Amino acid sequence: MRTVISRSELSEALAQLPRPFALVPTMGALHAGHAALIAAAKTSAATVVVSIFVNPTQFANAEAVAQYPRSLAADKRLAEAAGAHLLFVPDVDQIYPPDEPVPAIDPGPLALRLEGASRPGHFAGVATVVSRLFDLVRPERAFFGAKDAQQVRIVEWLAKQRNDQIAIHRVATVRDSDGLALSSRNQMLSASGRTAAAKTIPVALSLVAEAFSSGVTSVALLRALAERVISAEPSLELQYLDFADGATLVPLSDRAQIGDAESGEVLVSLAASVDGVRLIDAISLP
Ligand code: PAF
Repeated sequence: MRTVISRSELSEALAQLPRPFALVPTMGALHAGHAALIAAAKTSAATVVVSIFVNPTQFANAEAVAQYPRSLAADKRLAEAAGAHLLFVPDVDQIYPPDEPVPAIDPGPLALRLEGASRPGHFAGVATVVSRLFDLVRPERAFFGAKDAQQVRIVEWLAKQRNDQIAIHRVATVRDSDGLALSSRNQMLSASGRTAAAKTIPVALSLVAEAFSSGVTSVALLRALAERVISAEPSLELQYLDFADGATLVPLSDRAQIGDAESGEVLVSLAASVDGVRLIDAISLP
C-alpha cells in the first residue's frame, strides 16, 4: 500500500492503478468498522483508495477538530491489512486550496433533522468534502457505514446530484461483543460510560427490531419500548429517538404504523450522550 499526501501524488499514483476504483473516505482513528468498509470495497473494485482527512468544515469549531482522535501509524497498518492499495492523507490546503475556492454543497432538507438539527452546517461540510474527494479520486464506487444513517443518505443524494455514476454502498454496522456500534468516539468513553452505552443503545434498538419482527407495528408502542430501556440509565442523555421514512427522513408520527412509510423503509435512529460523548446508532425496518 502506498501513502500519498498531495493532489499531484494522488493523481500520479491513480494513473498507474487499475480501474475500477473504490473510495473509502474516513477521518482516521480506524477500527474494525472501517476494515469492513475496506474489505467490502475490495470485493468490487481492482483498486481500493482510503482517504484520511479530519475535515474542519464538518465540525462546530477548531477545538472539536483538534480533539478528534488521530492515530496515523496504526491507521496505515489497519488499512493495509484490510486490503487498501492507496492511502490518501491530505492536509487542509490540499482539499481546500487557499487560491481555489471549493463550492460548498447544501444538502437541503435531508440535512435539517436528526444530527443536522443539533449540528448546523455539519452535513454541508460532509457533502462538500465527499464531493471534493470524488473529484480528486474519480471512483466508480464509494463505501459508507450504515451506522451513520443520515450521512449515507446525504451521500446518496450527492451522488445523484453529481450524476457521474458513482455507486454508493451502505455497509452493515459492525458491533463490539457488548453490542455497541464501533465508532472512533467510543475511545473517549470512560469504562462506566461504555457499560452504560452498551446496555442501553443497542439493546433499545434490538428490542424495537424484535418487537417489529413479532408483529408490533405501532410507532408509539415501539418508541415506548426503546425509551423504557434508555430512561432506566441515568448517565445517558437521550437527544432523540426517531422513526422516519428511510428515504426522505420525514418523521412518522406516533399514530403511524411502520407500514405507513412511503418508501417502505423506516429508519429508527437515536443519539445519546454519555460522559459528554455523543453516540449515534440506527437500524432499518423491515
Ligand atoms: O464518516 C466520516 O468519517 C466522515 O464524515 C467522512 C464521510 C469521511 C467525511 O469527512
